Amino acid sequence: MAAKNARPADKEIAVVRNILKKGKIVCLTGAGISYESGIPTFRGNGGLWETYDPEVYGNMPGLVSIFRKSPEKLVGFISDFYNVLLQAKPNPAHLCLSYLEKSSLLKAVITQNIDNLHQQAGTRSIVELHGNAFRVRCRSCGATLKLEKDRVKEMVSLLKKARSSRVEVLKIFSRYCPRCLKCKGRFRIDIVLFGEQLDETDLSRSRELLDDCRALLIVGSSLVVYPAASLPLYAKERGAKIIEINSQPSALSDICDFKIMGAATEILPEIIRVL
Ligand code: APR
Repeated sequence: MAAKNARPADKEIAVVRNILKKGKIVCLTGAGISYESGIPTFRGNGGLWETYDPEVYGNMPGLVSIFRKSPEKLVGFISDFYNVLLQAKPNPAHLCLSYLEKSSLLKAVITQNIDNLHQQAGTRSIVELHGNAFRVRCRSCGATLKLEKDRVKEMVSLLKKARSSRVEVLKIFSRYCPRCLKCKGRFRIDIVLFGEQLDETDLSRSRELLDDCRALLIVGSSLVVYPAASLPLYAKERGAKIIEINSQPSALSDICDFKIMGAATEILPEIIRVL
């Protein structure tokens, strides 16, 4: 007997809750899970790529060319980008995933996000496919260093002061992305840009997690960027149930066993409410 004025999602939520209860869940997240933390998504209304052309700002050759032509535009992009990240806090959706991990139901979060919010929410097992904006990586040996928020704030305010001087901007970059102590290589912000290879260990770790998972919970991704978007099919082919939580259909909604349309910060707390 359906409960009085049951919403359409209630049925799916109840089924998904029963699947999650059995554990061995892996979660794949995209920008949508951080939308309600104040970070714009990349695509869709108000997305970052609406304001900044990814053909220019989403890859290294484009960033170098914009630096050469008008360094103040690069500085503008960097300060817009970091200003939202520096204010952002984990939202109830991030916290729900951390709760599922602590309850030993969730094995790991594989994220396309670079905002460090899963870490701040307390999740421990995280695969960051596209890097982390609060970390620098040595281009030569791959050694990484955390970039504390205060250092980022300092870097952004110095960049804004120096914005139209290429020499000054480069000096600031080399101050906050110094030479690697291990191999003297140059550090850079640890973000995977378009056209760059993902770290193979992250991809193989993701596949290992999906080799032995009962369900893949996908939260807030348009699933249009590969190889991250290859993971749902990889999991499905190995028998996992595919569950999608999104405010609108994604490119792979058709292969999902369960699709719950709505905001992650509403749906996830509803699912775990009575877990
Ligand atoms: N709750 C759930 N889903 C949401 C919410 C929300 N509150 N708000 C937006 N979404 C969904 C959108 O419907 C969309 O499907 O989040 C998704 C965001 O899609 P994208 O902006 O394309 O982000 P993502 O899928 O993470 O992009 C993948 O593309 O530009 C590269 O490297 C970048 O990691 C990024 C990759």
